[in-house]
Amino acid sequence: MSEKGISKAVIKRLPRYYRYLGELLEAGVERISSGELSERMKVTASQIRQDLNNFGGFGQQGYGYNVRYLHDEIGKILGLNRIHNMVIIGAGNLGQALANYASFERSGFRTVGLFDVNPVLQGVTVRGIPIRMVDELPEFIKENKVEIATLTLPKSRAKEMAQLLVEYGIRAIWNFAHTDLNLVLPRDVIVENVHLSESLMRLSYNLTSYEEKHKTNK
Ligand code: NAI
Repeated sequence: MSEKGISKAVIKRLPRYYRYLGELLEAGVERISSGELSERMKVTASQIRQDLNNFGGFGQQGYGYNVRYLHDEIGKILGLNRIHNMVIIGAGNLGQALANYASFERSGFRTVGLFDVNPVLQGVTVRGIPIRMVDELPEFIKENKVEIATLTLPKSRAKEMAQLLVEYGIRAIWNFAHTDLNLVLPRDVIVENVHLSESLMRLSYNLTSYEEKHKTNK
């Protein structure tokens, strides 16, 4: 079944299924019931059945789910069955930290280039990847078939850079600069925004409400 028409909420949950199934595979688990998966993932069994039925239901009554099959199928739906070449624009603290994180490669996201405007950084290598100057971008993107650009540069430079990257052939942007790029980019360019601070704010909310509850219960 194609994934067309699948709700955004389901698509949002798929990476989590993929991660859990990957852990099960590593632990040598070959099959799992929706009940067991539900217990591990803290999602109801009926939610799991409903979600996975969207893709033709990989489970069999009385057998459960074949972990490898389900993992691979979800991987295909997420486009993880092929390599995505990425560049990182802005080789400061965050850019270098992301470049140093080798595990993205296991999911097919290969960082092939790091770019900056600061000449002091030119030629410095991060995990074997040399930092290049941004004027090399157009050629580099073409030659290395780069599909994704990660933006870890100052917010004030992000829109202008994103527009250039699209001109150079970039198809998707993993945007860490806190600015809305959709307004300046063509509709067919995929943008995924990351805001670690939002995650921290949720943490703070939960911490605060826990403390409030604890206070009133005393
Ligand atoms: P940083 O100052 O260490 O690094 C920024 C790098 O971008 C510098 O090396 C600078 O030379 C380079 N740069 C400046 N203009 C450029 C251009 N036009 N093209 C290419 N490179 C350029 O800053 P840091 O801490 O690494 O943060 C980078 C960005 O990520 C900031 O916008 C920050 O707000 C954002 N950020 C976002 C987070 C999130 O959760 N979304 C978390 C942490 C930082």
